[in-house]
Amino acid sequence: MRLALVILIIFTLHNYGWGVDRTTFKTCQQSSFCRRTRKDTPGSSKFAIVSDTLKSFDDFVELDLVNKANDHLFVLRLEALESNKFRVQIDEKNPLKARYRVKDALQPSLKIGSLNVETSDGSSILITSGENKAVLTLDPFRIDFYQNDVLSVSVNAKRLMRFEHIRRKSSGEPMEDPDEWEEDFSGHLDTKPFGPEAIALDFSFPQAEVLFGIPEHAESFILKSTEGDDPYRLFNLDTANYELESKMALYGSVPVIYGHGPERSAGVFWHNAAETWVDIWASKKDVSDSPSARFMSESGIVDAFILLGPTPLDAFRQYTELTGTANLPQLFTLGHHQCRWNYDNSTDIVEVAANFDNYDIPMDTIWLDIEYTDEKKYFTWDPKHFPNPLGMIKNLTDSHRHLTIIIDPHYKIDKTYFFHQECEKKGYYTKNLQGKDYEGSCWPGPASYPDFFNPAVRQYYADQFVVERFNTTTKDVMIWNDMNEPSVFNGPEKTMPKDNLHYGGWEHRDVHNLFGHMQVMGTHQGLLQRDPNQRPFILTRSHFAGSQRYAIVWMGDNTAAWGHLENSIKMCLSEGIAGFSFCGSDVGGFFGDPEPELVERWYQVGTYTPFFRAHANQGTARREPWLFSERTRLVIRDAIRKRYSYLPMWYTMFYEHEKFGLPVMRPLLAQYPKDKEVYRIESQFMLQDQLLVCPVMEPGVKEIDVYFPSKDGQKVGDVWYDTDNFQKYDKVGHETIQVDYKKTPVYQRGGTIISKKENIRRTATLMKDDPYTLIVCLDKNGSSKGTLYIDDEKSYDYRQGKYIYEQFEFSGNSLKNSFITTPDYKTASTLERVIIAGLEKTPKSATIKYDGKTEELKVIAHEQAIAVEKPGINIAKEFVIELNY
Ligand code: NOJ
Repeated sequence: MRLALVILIIFTLHNYGWGVDRTTFKTCQQSSFCRRTRKDTPGSSKFAIVSDTLKSFDDFVELDLVNKANDHLFVLRLEALESNKFRVQIDEKNPLKARYRVKDALQPSLKIGSLNVETSDGSSILITSGENKAVLTLDPFRIDFYQNDVLSVSVNAKRLMRFEHIRRKSSGEPMEDPDEWEEDFSGHLDTKPFGPEAIALDFSFPQAEVLFGIPEHAESFILKSTEGDDPYRLFNLDTANYELESKMALYGSVPVIYGHGPERSAGVFWHNAAETWVDIWASKKDVSDSPSARFMSESGIVDAFILLGPTPLDAFRQYTELTGTANLPQLFTLGHHQCRWNYDNSTDIVEVAANFDNYDIPMDTIWLDIEYTDEKKYFTWDPKHFPNPLGMIKNLTDSHRHLTIIIDPHYKIDKTYFFHQECEKKGYYTKNLQGKDYEGSCWPGPASYPDFFNPAVRQYYADQFVVERFNTTTKDVMIWNDMNEPSVFNGPEKTMPKDNLHYGGWEHRDVHNLFGHMQVMGTHQGLLQRDPNQRPFILTRSHFAGSQRYAIVWMGDNTAAWGHLENSIKMCLSEGIAGFSFCGSDVGGFFGDPEPELVERWYQVGTYTPFFRAHANQGTARREPWLFSERTRLVIRDAIRKRYSYLPMWYTMFYEHEKFGLPVMRPLLAQYPKDKEVYRIESQFMLQDQLLVCPVMEPGVKEIDVYFPSKDGQKVGDVWYDTDNFQKYDKVGHETIQVDYKKTPVYQRGGTIISKKENIRRTATLMKDDPYTLIVCLDKNGSSKGTLYIDDEKSYDYRQGKYIYEQFEFSGNSLKNSFITTPDYKTASTLERVIIAGLEKTPKSATIKYDGKTEELKVIAHEQAIAVEKPGINIAKEFVIELNY
């Protein structure tokens, strides 16, 4: 027992303290299916459409496909979906056993389009769907997708398709690889009862100059060629202390990729939850050799969605039409979160919260990591350190704060633990190959893993969250699901064996990347059961396509190092275009003790990153803001207060994210697709189309290079206003900007109107009824526009229309508002001030007209903007403000 403990401690230290252990994780060469699939060279595959097998229906066609190397037959189904999307599915025609088809990742219903077979002859078939068409070449098999007559995506153009049909071991079919039927890795035997069943397919993007997507990797946003390197790996793993510039798998897998060039964007969503590796050919050699990707999955079927853009934003929206968006979060979750592993006891929590008040630093949510539990038994509390959770929670709630607690997916094998008793009795645990409850090891020591794929298990798990049962919590306690790749300390690659069995008899191999997704579905269900009218807030580490409908993500165990700060932007951009707009990294870095300058810069980045949470590893020095020097504390305070001033903008952006399906945090190419210079700029990003954020992410710098993008790919750009002083930049190209330790260069785009709240309080919740300031930045024509969304910040009433969604417009001499939908919500907030930047002359005064009244307003001229003071009217009232010269 003692030896086991020592081994566990060494293991934990090894994995949590000394950098990623590469030997724990496979390379492609160490994985039989990756090895054999990667042996295929372009032109090698022998698939052909069988002539005269075309069957056509209203919205799809079906055809037989043959592998001429062995005459095995497949069925190809091509379906048209609304708004420039196609779906290609390929499965065996007569499989020995059914192959797994992913469930629960897609939206519950997809909008089907219609298609027509125009021509079909012995060599090709032409199919049209609105302004799109698909040309299927029979032999060799290939599909070319055109959007408005422009070839945008080709399938199997490199002829790398592979589809290993399921066979019997006794069939005598020749082996391609000695480990096809059994594979050992570091003493873990994968028995592979169904043998080789891998699939692979290549996709080319003829219009693209760059490819991006397939999070989660600690790599550049733009994907790199994998020739001579390992492919990018998508296999949810607990790769704590991960390396930068690596294609190794991390905690989440979202198999969507985009190709982008100045004229067009297109994408492919590879709907497969098995271990997947992705090869990239990054550069365009000639027309016949475009940027391409090959997806290689260990099992399942080919199920690929083709997203035909044509703009990057179109392609991003097409993806969220399939998999959904983050739901509008409660407003407080957009505030500042304070976490560490661990706050020691209730007093610690209460004191830390109080100190945020003492130092006048806003904080909305404090987090409890695993140590709050009784011996890592989730849904219990450590009686010694947290004797009165309800008292502690009340203390937080009374000061308008929230608590978030961790609930992991491993359950201690302990005969006295109710959750374990129940799961064991009801057969709710994931099974091993022998059909017995699988036993692994994680924080509690020996543990089992509920089979979240089983709806009854999810229901049981969800039931635990209701306050009648978890009566040491309240309806306002939010949830963090961690270690849900799942992390298994003594499992192969620190996860679950692939020959484990889930609900429906599916192997873990088939569903691995969905495990965390199924847990968060259960958590979401639980929080809704607990309070049907409160929007759940769940943080998850493991994620798959579609998990954004239930939970938000962070980057896991990063390091307190400058490179990790930069990396956090790249990763969040990549998650954002894959549906996960609500994303962030551990501010300060999880491993190690950050130097103060790094802390300052990380908080400044946090201001502009959707999820803003400070977190630190066990054993690191405490790093609450007041433990640093006065300078650092004040920088942190400013960064957080600035975040709070922008809360109305964040909230409106997230409402629009739910409504329009576009990322909140965007790479520059999303807004400036024609400007090739921005394709590789990964240290700047946009918040929607409004703010250009250019954070400082290097130590000791006095100036940074900022790039102002162009709209036409040449000289025509936008006007930008420094958000600190409204200094105007009417230019395209690079500019050297002076920075001191306080400065984060952020520019508001001319042509936008952003709503802010400038009376900063202790928590976001307290700012609900506070007045608004509008920041009007004029474009080259002296106009601008912006939106503001308001509701109760908490409930689902907005789905019944209880909200205000208005638009502000400035042109000529006047600012007016109008309602995008008829307002059906009452707010106490007023309009306190309007700041206008970019006017040619300073007006003498202003006049406001509302409700048939006219009133004079004072105008104060600042150096580079004017302020119209105290309109004072309710923000939900129609008004016109005119400037008088
Ligand atoms: C791993 C998580 O990534 C980290 O954030 C957390 O503190 C530890 N697990 C302990 O729960």
